[in-house]
Amino acid sequence: MRHPLVMGNWKLNGSKQLTADLISGLQSALTEVQGCKVVIAPPALYLAQAVAAVQGSDIGVGAQNIDVNLSGAFTGETSAEMVKDNGAGYVIIGHSERRTYHHESDELVAEKFAVVKQQGLIPVLCIGETEAENEAGKTEEVCARQIDAVIKTQGVEAFHGAVIAYEPVWAIGTGKSATPAQAQAVHKFIRTHIAKQSPTVADQVIIQYGGSVNDKNAAELFGQPDIDGALVGGASLKADAFSVIVKAAAAAKA
Ligand code: 13P
Repeated sequence: MRHPLVMGNWKLNGSKQLTADLISGLQSALTEVQGCKVVIAPPALYLAQAVAAVQGSDIGVGAQNIDVNLSGAFTGETSAEMVKDNGAGYVIIGHSERRTYHHESDELVAEKFAVVKQQGLIPVLCIGETEAENEAGKTEEVCARQIDAVIKTQGVEAFHGAVIAYEPVWAIGTGKSATPAQAQAVHKFIRTHIAKQSPTVADQVIIQYGGSVNDKNAAELFGQPDIDGALVGGASLKADAFSVIVKAAAAAKA
């Protein structure tokens, strides 16, 4: 059975001080919370510090990106092996900011997905349509294409134990979240799309919603049957707001 998962994507934000303060804030706010897995994804430079700081709590740590290569002459990159070596368990891949600013294709993202799995880490595959695609009625087509790039190269079983984050690009950092009904419709489509190939895989895959999730709108989003948690940007940088989101997921899915 799938479990709720709330993950904080810190993006290019943080410092040694913020990492220490945010983790200790979360630890004290979440001591009583059960039934929702919490993962934070700080910038790669702070992974080791974060892994050390979460010891003794149930908070997991993830990276925001990896290179497809494990080592070699690839200046500036971070490998999945290094993420694992530092004790992190998750890797966000295919975030729309990487697809846009770093021109990552569906095929490259699928390759990264495979590398993450090969290292025994959990991939969090970000998918979602742009505003123009949304207005052109292409949401389902785009999501299916981004998922199929993985299925085509690795089979549907690759989604066993994996996470999908549906993040409509128009909702990211805009304060304009998808409505619970809009998000649920796309999440249902994603699960049904995977179920066509394997109902078992579809039933267990965690599908998070991402895009302007905050302490006010989280509970209603988590009330939807196919929304298993959230990938949170801005609100994950504040321990109090992020804790409210985690508690909302734990309560909605109890
Ligand atoms: P915001 O929560 O800031 O909209 O960011 C969402 C996101 O991109 C998480 O990966």
